[in-house]
Amino acid sequence: MADTNSFSMAGRRILLGVTGGIAAYKSAELVRLFKKAGAEVRVVMTPDAARFVTPLTLGTLSENEVHTEIFPENEAGSWTKHVALGLWADLFVVAPLTAQTLAKLVAGACDSMLTAVALTARCPTMVCPAMDHDMYVHPAVRNNLDTLSNRGITVMEAEHGELASGLIGQGRLPAPETIFERATQVLATQATAGDGPLAGKRVVVTAGPTRERIDPVRFISNHSTGTMGFELARAAARRGADVVLIAGPVSLATPDGVRRIDVESSAAMHATAMKHADADVIIMSAAVADFTPTTPSDSKIKKDAASSGLNLKPTADILAELGKVKRDGQLLVGFALETDNGLENARGKLERKNLDWIVLNNPKEEGAGFGTGTNRVTLLSRGDRRVDLPIMPKAEVAEAIIELAVLGIDPGAIDPIS
Ligand code: CTP
Repeated sequence: MADTNSFSMAGRRILLGVTGGIAAYKSAELVRLFKKAGAEVRVVMTPDAARFVTPLTLGTLSENEVHTEIFPENEAGSWTKHVALGLWADLFVVAPLTAQTLAKLVAGACDSMLTAVALTARCPTMVCPAMDHDMYVHPAVRNNLDTLSNRGITVMEAEHGELASGLIGQGRLPAPETIFERATQVLATQATAGDGPLAGKRVVVTAGPTRERIDPVRFISNHSTGTMGFELARAAARRGADVVLIAGPVSLATPDGVRRIDVESSAAMHATAMKHADADVIIMSAAVADFTPTTPSDSKIKKDAASSGLNLKPTADILAELGKVKRDGQLLVGFALETDNGLENARGKLERKNLDWIVLNNPKEEGAGFGTGTNRVTLLSRGDRRVDLPIMPKAEVAEAIIELAVLGIDPGAIDPIS
C-alpha cells in the first residue's frame, strides 16, 4: 500500500459526488474532513440527493457552488461545466453511491451533472456504494460493481451493520473517516506511481484460469482463482512499475494503479500476451488450459451427440512462445504446478521454456495451490539457485517473488504461519 503517512491532502482537488440515499447525510462530514486536511472540494449531487442533504449545506461546507442539473436554469455559459469539473479534479469520490446511479455509471448514462462528470473525469475514481442489504447482494448490483472495478475504479465495499430499513446486513456506508483514509490512499498510490525500484519498468502479469468453449453453455476450465497473479500485479505496481494484468475469468477487484485486460480463452490470452511480449518483466502465473475443443459448437450439444466424445487439440504454450522471443535484459518468470517430481519437472520447464525463474508449487500440499489464501513455493533460477519459502499468505508470497526474482533482493527472515 502507498505510504499515506507522508502524503498530504493539502491542495488536492476532490470532486465529491453525492447520490440520493439515506447515507447522504454523511457526505457533509466527509466534505469537512477533506477541507480540514487542506483539500479543495467541489460537490456534484444528483437531484434526488438534494432530498436528503441540501446543496446549501454542502455548498457552505465546501465553500463552492454545488452542481446538480446538467442544464441548470438561468445559467448562461455553464454548458461545459461537466467537462471543466471532470478535468479539474485530482480524485472523484462518489459517496454514497446508490444502486440507481451505479447502474447509470455502468451504462455511461449522463442525465445529471454527476453522471456527466463521471464520463469526463480523467482522474482516479472511487465509489462507495450504500444501500439495503438485499439490493447490495443482488447479482445486478454485484455485476455492476465488478464492471466498475474492471474499469479501474476503486470500489470501497459497504460495511455490515444496522441499515435504515431496520435490517442487519452489508450495505452501510463506511464512516466518513474511513472513506477519507481510503481516498487518501488512492491519491497517494497515484502520486507515487512512477516512484520506487520498478519505476519506468513495464511488467506484465497473467492470472487466473482460461475457459475453453465447448458450446454456448459449456467450457473446460480449472480451479484457479487468480489471487496469486493479482497479488503479483499489486506488488509490482506498489514498487512503481507500469503493470498490465492479463486476467482470465475471475472475480477479483483490480489492484490500484494496475491496467487490467480481461480475456477468456487461452487463444485470447496468447494473443494479448504476445502484444506485450517486449515488456521488461513477464510473470506467467495464469493456469492456462492445455487443451481446447477442436471445433467448438455454435449450438448446445445434445446428450446423444456428446456421448460420441469430445475432440481436443493442444493450446499454444504461451510461456514457451514468450521464451522464444525473449530479448536481452528481459526477465521471464513462470510457474510450475506439480504433484510429483516437482523439482525435476520444474527445472525441465525452466530450461525448455527459456525462463529466468520458475515458481514451483504443489496443489496437493496443505496451504498451497488453488483456492487457498496461502501458498508454499520454491523458487528455482536459471543460475541454479533454489529458495524455499515457508507457507505464507499469497500477498506475502507475491512480495517475496518480486523482491527475489525481479529485484534480486533475498527474502529476509519470514515467519511461517504457525
Ligand atoms: N503455460 C502457458 N501456456 C500453456 C500452459 C502453461 O503459458 N498453454 C504456463 C503457465 O502459465 C505456467 C507454466 O506454463 O507459468 C507451467 O504451467 P504448468 O501447467 O505447470 O505446466 P505445463 O507446461 O502446462 O506442463 P504440464 O501440464 O505437462 O505439467
